[in-house]
Amino acid sequence: MNPLNHVAIIMDGNGRWGIRHYNSRKKGHKAGLKTVETVIKVSIEKKIPYLTLFAFSTENWKRPKTEIDALFKLLESFLKKKIKEFNKNQIKLKIIGEKKFPKKLNKLLNDSEKKTNSNSKLQINLALNYGSKKEIINAIKLLNKKNMNINEKNISKSLYTKNIPDPDLLIRTGNTKRLSNFLLWQISYSEIFFSNKLWPDFNSNDFINILKKYQRIKRKFGKIL
Ligand code: FPP
Repeated sequence: MNPLNHVAIIMDGNGRWGIRHYNSRKKGHKAGLKTVETVIKVSIEKKIPYLTLFAFSTENWKRPKTEIDALFKLLESFLKKKIKEFNKNQIKLKIIGEKKFPKKLNKLLNDSEKKTNSNSKLQINLALNYGSKKEIINAIKLLNKKNMNINEKNISKSLYTKNIPDPDLLIRTGNTKRLSNFLLWQISYSEIFFSNKLWPDFNSNDFINILKKYQRIKRKFGKIL
């Protein structure tokens, strides 16, 4: 069995799904939340310790303000609704990225992290205002400031993901094959799966099938097996 400690997901396709079904991108994001619940449930069942979800990139600020506001509103109501359940199910929430949001949302994010901090079954890393290049630059600046050596171990320890194992598996939905500035350092040896399905259509079977395929891979990490 391949160890499976960390699954990272680029949840792409909400906008297209929303337009296709309701002529509303916002409805697509709302439907995407159901899939978020599904992958959390499967991760718990499969005893995956870390799940990272790309919810808002540093580039997503280029979207119309109405869409950004709608996304933040959804995030807000999701967190308010879910924190109790997170505590009940031993789910810890960590935000990766820069918490530079409206004051109210920043406070909610900080509170949600604090309230779930001691949970230990599943850690959800929610990537918000996240950009991998920015993360790497920040890490190098931090090392420079502390006069520390620029090496692999020190860079890893200075990323937002410090103390989190690198993803074993990266999944991108939405029928698009790109990495979109997501975890570029951390996915050096991740197994990558692309799903043609739009995120709201991605279901527990799709997720479980990918987990099964992952188990059949001979992971070599550069060696000859
Ligand atoms: C990409 O689809 C998705 C996003 C930019 C946002 C992801 C957000 C959610 C799943 C809902 C909020 C999440 C949480 C955890 C509260 P897209 O809009 O780029 O889709 P498109 O490629 O079809 O336009």
